[in-house]
Amino acid sequence: MKFIEAENYEKLSRRAANIISAQVIIKPDCVLGLATGSTPLGTYKQLIEWYEKGDIDFSEVFSVNLDEYIGLDGKNEQSYRYFMDKNFFDRINIDKSNTLIPSGTAEDRDAECANYDKKIKALGGIDLQLLGIGNDGHIGFNEPDSCFEKNTHVVRLHESTIEANARFFEKKEDVPKFAITMGMISIMQAKKILLIANGRNKKEILDKAFLGPITPEIPASILQLHPDITVIYSEK
Ligand code: PGA
Repeated sequence: MKFIEAENYEKLSRRAANIISAQVIIKPDCVLGLATGSTPLGTYKQLIEWYEKGDIDFSEVFSVNLDEYIGLDGKNEQSYRYFMDKNFFDRINIDKSNTLIPSGTAEDRDAECANYDKKIKALGGIDLQLLGIGNDGHIGFNEPDSCFEKNTHVVRLHESTIEANARFFEKKEDVPKFAITMGMISIMQAKKILLIANGRNKKEILDKAFLGPITPEIPASILQLHPDITVIYSEK
């Protein structure tokens, strides 16, 4: 594992964007695993800037996102599809039909989960997976549990996650209680993983995840077993 401590959030974002752009340059038709949340916003902003300067071309890139809220369709401003379109996809030259996000409104959720894994497999897996980390150690929406969930699945969000995400909603009661998330197989089979964490409040969970025992109670701890993971952290 490679651990980089960046001086501040701007530098963290630049380092992360550097790693992603290197991946796109080396393999223009790569599969990027992407994440939502506050932390990746600076990374996406930096990539957009480089795209606008003509330094990076996303026209052949495929993307697969980690998760989506159950019950929200892509037009809902709180959905992760909306987040990705607004903060990244609509501002670069990626082909939108090559951007996969699980559907939060599929009638048959089991089929949606199984299909999502099939689609990732059909793409040949993920070349580089970008991850944030929740205060409880979740990656994607893989919440602390008694076992690691292998495949894409529907999950009931933990109270601490609902509280943490309430800042994006008008009121806490509006935060969906369920989400659909990629499971550990697709994440762990990504050829490279890039985990970004910003703020002193993330230090404790990072230490638990990467220096403590591997346990499903801290889902991110499974990443200790990944052969090519870079963690970038900045305190401020
Ligand atoms: P954040 O979310 O980037 O908004 O801190 C991280 C996560 O919950 O995965």
